[in-house]
Amino acid sequence: MAKKQTTKTKGTPASPTPRVSVRESGILRIGLIGYGFMGRAHANAIHQAGNFFRTGRRPVLQAVCGRSEGKVREFAAAWQCPHVETDWRRLVARDDIDAVDICTPNDSHMEIALACVKHRKMILCEKPLALDGKQGAAMTRAVEKSGLPNLVWYNYRFLPAVTLAKNIVASGELGKIFHYRANFLQDWTISADLPQGGTGLWRLDAKVAGSGVTGDLLAHCIDTARWINGDIVSVGAMTETFIKERIHTATGTKQPVKIDDACAFLARFKNGSMAVFESTRYARGHKALYTFEINGEHKSLAWDLHDLNRLSYFDHSVQGDRRGWSSIHCTDGDHPYAGAWWVPGLCLGYEHSFVHGLYEFLRSLDAPKSPRAYPDFRHALGTQHVCDAVLKSARTGRWVTVTQA
Ligand SMILES: NC(=O)c1ccc[n+]([C@@H]2O[C@H](COP(=O)([O-])OP(=O)(O)OC[C@H]3O[C@@H](n4cnc5c(N)ncnc54)[C@H](O)[C@@H]3O)[C@@H](O)[C@H]2O)c1
Repeated sequence: MAKKQTTKTKGTPASPTPRVSVRESGILRIGLIGYGFMGRAHANAIHQAGNFFRTGRRPVLQAVCGRSEGKVREFAAAWQCPHVETDWRRLVARDDIDAVDICTPNDSHMEIALACVKHRKMILCEKPLALDGKQGAAMTRAVEKSGLPNLVWYNYRFLPAVTLAKNIVASGELGKIFHYRANFLQDWTISADLPQGGTGLWRLDAKVAGSGVTGDLLAHCIDTARWINGDIVSVGAMTETFIKERIHTATGTKQPVKIDDACAFLARFKNGSMAVFESTRYARGHKALYTFEINGEHKSLAWDLHDLNRLSYFDHSVQGDRRGWSSIHCTDGDHPYAGAWWVPGLCLGYEHSFVHGLYEFLRSLDAPKSPRAYPDFRHALGTQHVCDAVLKSARTGRWVTVTQA
C-alpha cells in the first residue's frame, strides 16, 4: 500500500525528466524491472490507464530498473520516469514504490517476487509465473500469506472480443460445451544460425525460459482457455526440438537446445469438453497467429489475434436460411472496455490489452472483496501446472493428470 515516504529514496534521478509528486493515496507508484518488449508495453499501459479509466489510484511510473545504466536512463527519459536503478534489489527496496512490475526473463520472476513480498510491495508479474510449478507454488504461497495484491500479465483476455467470448460462455448460451481448440503459431526460429541466450534470444535457452513454446505461447492459450472454459484435468502431448544445437551467445560454442520448438497436445476439461492445442515457432508465414474456437450445443465462438476486434459467432437458433457465422466488431459502447476509448467502430490494438489488465488490477484495489477479472498468482499457477503436465506427457509418452492449483 502507499506508504508515507520517510527515508531519502535511493537511486539517481534520471534528469531532465519531470518528477512525479508522491501522494499518500490516489496514486499507485509502480517500479518497473526490465525495459525490453514488455517493459515498453507496460510503461505505455501505466501512462494510458489513468487517462482512460478512473479508479481510486492513478498509476505512475515511479522508477525503472535495467542493468545497463545508459539504456535505462534513455528508457526513463522516453517514458517520463523520474528514477532509475541498475539493480532490481534496490528498486524493490525503495520506499517510494507501492507495486513492482516484473518484466524480466522467466528465471528471475521467483527471486524478484519473493523480494517484493519481503518488502511489502504489490506484484504485477509477467507470464509465465515461473520456470515451473514448484517455483510457482512457492511464489503463490508467499504472496497469499502476505495478503499483497498480485497479478500475472496474461493480457489477451483483456481484449474486448476475448472478454465478450468469456461473458457469452459464462451466460450459459452455448449450452453444453463439446470442443475447445487453440493455436499460437510463429516462424522466427527456423534458421539454424540463430544463436541461443542473451537479449531477445533467452527464449531459446531452457535455463532462462524454463521451456519453449509451451511456457511462452501455449501458456497464453491455456490461460484464456481456463478462464473461458474452466479447469483442464488431463493432457496428452508431443513436443519437438527441430534444431538440436545452437551457438550460445554467452560461450560462443554450440550447445544442445533444450527447449520445445513445437508442441501439440490434447486435453480434457473438467466440464467434459475436449481440446486440441498447438504451438510452434516453425510455421513458415505465421508471425503471431493466436486463434481459438469453442463449440457448444447451441452456439460457437471463434477469435483470431490478426483481427482482434472481431468475435465470430454462430447461433444455431437463427432461422435455417439465415443461419451462419456472423462477425461481431467489438468496438461499440456496450462491448467490454470499448466504451472508454473512441467512438463506435474505431479499433483497439494489442497494447490496449495491457491497459485493460492494469485497469482491472486498480479496480480490484478499490473493491478488494469483489471477484477479480485478472489472473492472480493462483490462477497463473494453475496454468503453470498445465504446462508442466504437457511437458511431462511429451517426455513420457503418456497422458498426465494435471495438478490443480
Ligand atoms: N504478456 C505477453 O504477451 C508477453 C509478451 C512477451 C514477453 N512476455 C514475458 O515478459 C517477460 C520479459 O519478456 P520480454 O519479451 O520483455 O524480454 P526482453 O528480452 O525484451 O526484455 C527483458 C528485459 O529484462 C532485463 N533484464 C534481464 N535480467 C535482468 C536483471 N537481472 N535485472 C534487471 N533487468 C533485467 C533486460 O535487460 C531487458 O530489458 C518474460 O517473462 C516473457 O515471458 C510476455
